[in-house]
Amino acid sequence: MTKIKVGILFGGRSAEHEISLQSAKNVIEALDKAKYDATLIGIDKEGKWHSFQDSAFLLNETNPKLIKLNQSSQTEVAVALGTSERPLVPVSSKKPHSMMQEPMGVDVIFPVLHGTFGEDGTVQGLLKLAGIPFVGADVLGSAVGMDKDVMKRLLRDAGLPIADFLTFRRFERSEISYDKVKERLGEPFFIKPANLGSSVGISKVSDKSTFEKGIETAFFYDNKIVIEENITGREIEVGVLGNEHPIASIPGEVIPHHDFYSYEAKYIDADGAGLKIPAEISDAVAAELKMMAVKVFKTLECEGLGRVDFFLVDGKKILVNEINTIPGFTKISMYPRLWQASGIPYAELIDRLLQLAIEKHERDSRLRSSV
Ligand SMILES: Nc1ncnc2c1ncn2[C@@H]1O[C@H](COP(=O)(O)OP(=O)(O)O)[C@@H](O)[C@H]1O
Ligand SMILES: [Mg+2]
Repeated sequence: MTKIKVGILFGGRSAEHEISLQSAKNVIEALDKAKYDATLIGIDKEGKWHSFQDSAFLLNETNPKLIKLNQSSQTEVAVALGTSERPLVPVSSKKPHSMMQEPMGVDVIFPVLHGTFGEDGTVQGLLKLAGIPFVGADVLGSAVGMDKDVMKRLLRDAGLPIADFLTFRRFERSEISYDKVKERLGEPFFIKPANLGSSVGISKVSDKSTFEKGIETAFFYDNKIVIEENITGREIEVGVLGNEHPIASIPGEVIPHHDFYSYEAKYIDADGAGLKIPAEISDAVAAELKMMAVKVFKTLECEGLGRVDFFLVDGKKILVNEINTIPGFTKISMYPRLWQASGIPYAELIDRLLQLAIEKHERDSRLRSSV
């Protein structure tokens, strides 16, 4: 059997660069070597792509804060557009003994990238132009899943329950008044950049004095912000897997040990949050969450995988918070653990995702591109 060449894409120009490196390391280790050959492609913080030798692609790999790409074992590559047998092309390197001299073939890519330039449709667009099958949502699903304003409007249109929210663009800044926001949404409320993740740029505002700072912070990161009513509830997450007929995992709960599930709680504080799998909820609520997770996934044009995050108020009222189209993928991350607990172990999950990517690509390749 010829092995399938899998490109693992990791790093990236995002606040989640380091978590992506950890996810990639776990994915590479778990890949079925009898079936797949891995090609490692790391994107540095400037956005350049490099191929790596798998033995030494990371430095400080056991330290989540200091983990980084090992630049001494890298060769810069570019992606050739149009369908090509060997789409990964080395960029002429000054090194005399560049590891990779020839263009490389790749049958499918797993973008283990989170956030900006990874989860937002940009990389997906590039891979489509290069004709390479890839894991996860297409351009539209990725972009929609990333934009909290557009995402919420689509969820609302589908009749899915969400927190009340307001959207403002930078040019409307002078119209954003604390009193008007408070009148509509109550207090406290959340101010967020529309397109970001990892809780970066998010503030919980409970009085006028922190309002301006919250608005300013969100506009550091995006030209569009959303302001949401505060939901007092538990945070429950459900994994979704599949293309046309997606299935949902059992629900799990995130229990933040901070005021909310902030950047610190997610990545800085080792004890910032606890994961409880399965979530302690009634069977009826679990069934409702699973059904809604699949509906969210379909409504937002997602494929492959997604983690749908909910708020559960008073043990019964469900509100959709958001979708993550490339959720954290280390062995101890919520998404793989939800599937593990639902009967799909880590290595099998990766296998299924790669198969789904290939199926999606074959389906789409049959479409006519000219009259
Ligand atoms: N409307 C809200 N009510 C209560 N908590 C919220 C609300 N919005 C966000 N949070 C808190 O902030 C965290 C991050 O917000 P989220 O919208 O999920 O952004 P991100 O995409 O950065 O994860 C949530 O996990 C939750 O703890
Ligand atoms: Mg979130």
